[in-house]
Amino acid sequence: MGELGLNKVFGAILAVALVILGLREVSSIVFGGGHHGEHHYASVNEWAAESFAYRVEMTENSSAEVVEEVYDLGLLMAGADISAGERSFKGKCATCHSIDQDGVNGTGPNLFAIVGAAKGAKDGFSYSGALTVTEGDWSYGNLDLWLEAPSRYARGTSMAFAGLKRDNERANMLAYLAAYTPEAPEFPQPLPSAEESVEEAELVETAEAVVEADGEEAAPAEEPASDI
Ligand code: HEC
Repeated sequence: MGELGLNKVFGAILAVALVILGLREVSSIVFGGGHHGEHHYASVNEWAAESFAYRVEMTENSSAEVVEEVYDLGLLMAGADISAGERSFKGKCATCHSIDQDGVNGTGPNLFAIVGAAKGAKDGFSYSGALTVTEGDWSYGNLDLWLEAPSRYARGTSMAFAGLKRDNERANMLAYLAAYTPEAPEFPQPLPSAEESVEEAELVETAEAVVEADGEEAAPAEEPASDI
């Protein structure tokens, strides 16, 4: 064997030795088998979480699919139960709030016609002022956030109430408040599911293709009748 051949053999042995050393090193870091690390990691994930500044949180269900949770207030409200909302209002809110049109302010302001109303604007009630620094009117979305955790939504509020933690209980409550709001704003739309939005996109494309093929523009919308 020439010198070159020996070098190759030596090189190969060195490479294998390095790989073995490397593997031992990695496994001792990960599983704490060696004397190097102070930590003993139960899993590669734990090691990764400790070793890097970021990680991706994933939950897996029993069939090992990754589950993403999307909060869809429209969907919750589409299934809302007004009478359940009434029960929780009577149990949790009525000690401080009336809701009838001619109801009076109590510890809290009367809540007739509250959906869509300006915040902190009921005549004759002295508000804490905490709501005035929050944005927007009482949309369903804002009421939802407020009722989930009043003191988080409006720090320093005088509404001494921990919050309605269950999503569907809040949706029921919003539907109940809406039932006492003449001409309440429409409930938010449920998010279109991924499939539906794909279908819609296809419909639009088809419609555009038809217009192009005909070479005609859509007829202009008719003028609204003016004699009403
Ligand atoms: C312990 C008494 C108390 C309870 C219980 C309570 N509230 Fe209140 N609520 C208040 C007070 C006080 C305010 C005024 C808050 C402020 O000025 O910071 C208020 C304000 C509100 C407002 C804003 C009104 C406006 O004019 O802007 C809404 C909406 C509301 N409460 C809904 C509810 C609902 C729904 C419940 C039941 C889940 C509830 N509250 C439970 C005392 C209470």
